[in-house]
Amino acid sequence: MDSEKKIVLVVGGAGYIGSHVVKALRDAGKSPVVFDNMSSGLQENLLPGIPFIKGDTQFPEQLASAMKGVDSIIHMAALKAAGESMTEPEKYAENNISGTINLLNAATAAKVKYFVFSSSAAVYGEPQYLPLDESHPTTPINFYGHTKLAIENLLHWYSQLKGLRFSSLRYFNAAGYDVDGELNGLEHKPNNLLPIVLETIVGRREKVEVFGTDYDTRDGSCIRDYIHVSDLADAHLKALDYLKHENQDLVINLGTSKGLSVLEIIQIAREVSGQEFNYTLGHAVPVIRLLFWQKLNWPQNCSAGDQNTVMRTHSAGNNSAGLSAEFVVFRSPNHQTHLIIIPIEQLCVFIF
Ligand SMILES: NC(=O)c1ccc[n+]([C@@H]2O[C@H](COP(=O)([O-])OP(=O)(O)OC[C@H]3O[C@@H](n4cnc5c(N)ncnc54)[C@H](O)[C@@H]3O)[C@@H](O)[C@H]2O)c1
Repeated sequence: MDSEKKIVLVVGGAGYIGSHVVKALRDAGKSPVVFDNMSSGLQENLLPGIPFIKGDTQFPEQLASAMKGVDSIIHMAALKAAGESMTEPEKYAENNISGTINLLNAATAAKVKYFVFSSSAAVYGEPQYLPLDESHPTTPINFYGHTKLAIENLLHWYSQLKGLRFSSLRYFNAAGYDVDGELNGLEHKPNNLLPIVLETIVGRREKVEVFGTDYDTRDGSCIRDYIHVSDLADAHLKALDYLKHENQDLVINLGTSKGLSVLEIIQIAREVSGQEFNYTLGHAVPVIRLLFWQKLNWPQNCSAGDQNTVMRTHSAGNNSAGLSAEFVVFRSPNHQTHLIIIPIEQLCVFIF
């Protein structure tokens, strides 16, 4: 019977954000079950006592058997490297889009009622105005962003045609780790600024490379909005409550409204850790140069000669138009949301 269904299936629940969502669900007395193929999920992210199904959204039969007793789904399983999505779109189409179609079909066949989706600010592309709100045009500039938008479009149709209530959460940059220290699964080979800074502090890297110092920002370096992962996790629970109580769909940005520049992050990291460390200043590398490098293997001495650099410089390029302002959490007039994001203080960002 429907009333007996109470499981929240967290697809991608062994990942960075997913594990924090599972913890928040458990702490709120809910019944999470993790479904993950462990492609980037970590064993140490699996909390004791929480059921785990090793499965892949590519396989409909695995999804079908995971739906028993499921009332709601939080879908976080994706490949998420914007740079890689431009060179290997097939992988992203299959994993992100086809995998989600399988998941939606399994969910609606099993009469699951609520679906929360990890979308991304990448759906917007180059900002046409700031701050970004949910009415901003969605014209992604990388294939990863396209996969998120394609899934959002599918969700609108499944909502209309199959009655699946959905919430799409457009995250900005997730940062930080569990403040209680219960979750310790550090990302392997991270490509984001904060873990790179932290790895430099502990000596795993020689230096932090700052790409771009002449942007129109308060100190010339790139400003981004970082939201603490525990706040993000909390937002998923609130989104589920919203779907249940308001019985309408919800598309919303999740950020903090406190943009931090690269140089500010470096300064805070020095203060918090009490450690000096090396960083170098350089120009932002435009994406077009990377494409030259990838297609023509030119110029051969390009510093963008490894995938890490491709990723970093690509994201620096992506943000070139959005550097002069801070992103804010917006409440869309069309989606009367009551989500309130309370940012954890900046220092939490630096807790391992
Ligand atoms: N980290 C960020 O700043 C950020 C920003 C915007 C959006 N997002 C989105 O949030 C979600 C979670 O991101 P994350 O940073 O925790 O990434 P992550 O890589 O740590 O987590 C993704 C999880 O999904 C699993 N997974 C991937 N493909 C799967 C498949 N086909 N079947 C089953 N499991 C699969 C992985 O093993 C992993 O555990 C992703 O959808 C990502 O696109 C993240």
